[in-house]
Amino acid sequence: MNRKFGSGAGRGRKIATKLVQSGVKFDTDTGAVSVPIYQSATFAHPAPGKSTGYDYARMGNPTRQALEEALAALDGCESAFAFSSGMAAIMAVMLLFETGDHLIFGEDLYGGTYRLMDWVLSKFGLTVSYVDTTNLAAVASAVTPKTRAVLLETPSNPNLKITDIAAVAALCRKKRILTVVDNTLMTPYLQRPLSLGADLVVYSATKYLGGHNDLLAGAVLTANPRLADELTVIQQASGPVLAPHDAWLLLRGLKTLAVRMDRQQENAQYLAEWLQKHRAVEYVLYPGLHELHPQADGPGAMLSFTLRDGELAKHLMSGLEIITFAESLGGVESLITYPYLQTHADLPEETKKRLGIHERLLRLSVGIEHCEDLQADLERALGQKR
Ligand SMILES: Cc1ncc(COP(=O)(O)O)c(C=O)c1O
Repeated sequence: MNRKFGSGAGRGRKIATKLVQSGVKFDTDTGAVSVPIYQSATFAHPAPGKSTGYDYARMGNPTRQALEEALAALDGCESAFAFSSGMAAIMAVMLLFETGDHLIFGEDLYGGTYRLMDWVLSKFGLTVSYVDTTNLAAVASAVTPKTRAVLLETPSNPNLKITDIAAVAALCRKKRILTVVDNTLMTPYLQRPLSLGADLVVYSATKYLGGHNDLLAGAVLTANPRLADELTVIQQASGPVLAPHDAWLLLRGLKTLAVRMDRQQENAQYLAEWLQKHRAVEYVLYPGLHELHPQADGPGAMLSFTLRDGELAKHLMSGLEIITFAESLGGVESLITYPYLQTHADLPEETKKRLGIHERLLRLSVGIEHCEDLQADLERALGQKR
């Protein structure tokens, strides 16, 4: 592509700097510090056979391109593809595979990924085995001659279990299959799976990358030129690209990711330690309560906890005034979800039981409010009389 823009995302810089500089100096024509929103579906050709580098917005749009360059710089690779949602990004990865292929998914993963496979892709002859990816031997024994990839989340969702990405990636390389990491909960600020040997990274950018609960977006990243070529065709041919305005919102969100995540982690650690001692709480799942795996630069800001009393778990949400009962995570506002009936509702009952996704489990996405206000909110709701 004959592009006349530069990129502000320099190599060798710290990730906090790269985040803030996302998109800066992209538009060298005007010097716009904030990337312009190129709200255009098509681009005029200077002459027959000539192009400005942009032809039709599904194939490429400058605002989306600025975002994709910024995302690639953050994960330390050449190629990023921005999609209209996290599920569209995961679907694009699934389109790399063919009828008859077998995949291995982490068993404790976002329920929507399970739904995509079970309700949609199974019709096209893709099969999947769900495995505890924290157990390398279990992953190895699930590989068949038809297996093409392992897809995992770490920390997992909602149990926040840690998989050793480098170990799974080494196993996959030996077996000549791909490693795909859904890095939504960590973001490149805390964990960069490509540098640990993964072939593909996917994000629901709706979550921490965007950070403000105001857009849906997804991304796929790879350092592998062959996969990048295939994903280019998939993105352009299938079409669920990120719209220019949402690409701009996401660029704006990226700039504050480091400060948001630092504060969210601090709050999550504070609440996890406090909840752990609360009489109504059975146990707390939060990576910050244990020694961190060296692959991550922090524990993240998602925590799950189970209550002793199932009725209280069902009614806790109505007693909260600050923390919103809503399905999502990663934004500046704290949200609480009830995985059993929401994010993971579509998992078969026996799978939910095995994974500990029961009526007493709650998942908290900790925001950037003052931690003492969040604590007081939870204290009030946990102490409510029914
Ligand atoms: C880990 C993870 N991956 C993927 C998705 C899907 O992303 P989206 O809702 O942006 O389609 C979600 C959504 O909650 C998620 O939590």
